[in-house]
Amino acid sequence: MASFPMTDPPVITIDGPAASGKGTIAARVAQALGFGYLDSGALYRLMALHAVRSGIALDDEAGLATLAASLDAAFGDGDIRLAGDAVTEAIRSEPISAAASQVAQYPQLRLALLERQRAFLRPPGLVAEGRDMGTVVFPHARLKVFLTASPEVRAQRRHKQLMEKGLGANMQALLEDIRQRDARDGARSAAPLKPAVDAILLDTTGLDIEQVVDRVLRLWWERK
Ligand code: DC
Repeated sequence: MASFPMTDPPVITIDGPAASGKGTIAARVAQALGFGYLDSGALYRLMALHAVRSGIALDDEAGLATLAASLDAAFGDGDIRLAGDAVTEAIRSEPISAAASQVAQYPQLRLALLERQRAFLRPPGLVAEGRDMGTVVFPHARLKVFLTASPEVRAQRRHKQLMEKGLGANMQALLEDIRQRDARDGARSAAPLKPAVDAILLDTTGLDIEQVVDRVLRLWWERK
């Protein structure tokens, strides 16, 4: 278990459910403050792809935990690589999204990825986004934000994103997918999706990205 002396660089955690806008918001906040950025969901997605490519079954908890040691992940500027291979798009595919949600339920795998996530913390600070950033990975974060939005609003946002990319999407199927993922991420026994007791809840329904980024930055300046 790592210790977190007060002299450690500061951490802002941004947790929340699928399609809550965490990724975009965390990246913008990090950019505004000149902090590093951890997309922890990408690590679970990379693990899922690594398992598929290595022929490890997605329900082989011990095998996945062992495999985590050989995860060769690199995060560049909007460019994610697995063993040197550009996989930014591949890890967002529907099969890998489902596989990531599956492997993320295993405590042994989560533990195997813990120190790798903490290693992202370097001066002058870090914005970490995911599901358990404020509860498990960075329990001593200086600011913890938990984003919420109704499943309907999140499905609409995802629909818009997919349409903008020229990809077809069915609203009802997206809503169903978000509900299922919420249920799975919230019901698992290891690090279920829930706000840290000291997290600030931010309902983003009716807010655009700029407004949410602005609120998080204001919370940060108040906290400093
Ligand atoms: O945030 P995302 O959709 O990229 O996350 C992919 C999957 O990984 C999702 O099913 C939840 C899981 N995850 C997790 O369990 N813990 C995290 N800190 C981040 C993601």
